[in-house]
Amino acid sequence: MRSRNNPNAHVELNYYDRYISSKEKLQELIKNENKIINIEIGMGKGEFISNLAYLNPDVMYIGIELSQTVLALAIKKIKRFEEEKNATLKNLYLMSFDASDLCEMFDNNQINKIYLNFSDPWPKKRHEKRRLTHENFLKLYKKVLIKDGVIEFKTDNRSLFEFSICSVNNFGLKIHEVYLDLHKTEVFNILTEYEQKFFEKGPIYKMILS
Ligand SMILES: C[S@@+](CC[C@H](N)C(=O)[O-])C[C@H]1O[C@@H](n2cnc3c(N)ncnc32)[C@H](O)[C@@H]1O
Repeated sequence: MRSRNNPNAHVELNYYDRYISSKEKLQELIKNENKIINIEIGMGKGEFISNLAYLNPDVMYIGIELSQTVLALAIKKIKRFEEEKNATLKNLYLMSFDASDLCEMFDNNQINKIYLNFSDPWPKKRHEKRRLTHENFLKLYKKVLIKDGVIEFKTDNRSLFEFSICSVNNFGLKIHEVYLDLHKTEVFNILTEYEQKFFEKGPIYKMILS
């Protein structure tokens, strides 16, 4: 379900101390933190990345979300999560930009892992370049990832999964693990908001690549 547009979202984001508004600020933080960097592209309301950041305080997590309205909702949710856990996720930062600008923000060989969870499927052929596993995006991921950097992708959309397998294979990435029904395995899994709503309706597909 789409969230109603919040015209004040940018104000809420700029008040949040872990919102990163520019490449300069991002690069300064990366230098100061000096940690492994894992990012989620299209983080939605942040359930997945909040849990990861809580479990792995030594990793710097950066959640990227195109919609400022959604990111403002994520901030509220992260605050609630921190209250529940009585913890501050000092290692979780948020940014709002389009994934196509990834190389405008990050330097080459800077990221350890990229998570793509339930990316928009863009079912029409004429929109396939918008899919986050299209070759044009894979080129960007390859640049910003370190050597042997990893991409984890999961979706409930079989057509997107099939497209993605072909796309990563043609691009020359190695597929290390494939799950055709993730929830029927014992593999450690953090549910995203989207996954919570849809996993009972059909299989969740996942692959791990580098
Ligand atoms: C279907 S939602 C999934 C959200 C979350 N990952 C989950 O699993 O609950 C896809 C999200 O990706 C964001 N998104 C779509 N295209 C994007 C892009 N090019 N760059 C960054 N975020 C994008 C959308 O705004 C949306 O919040």
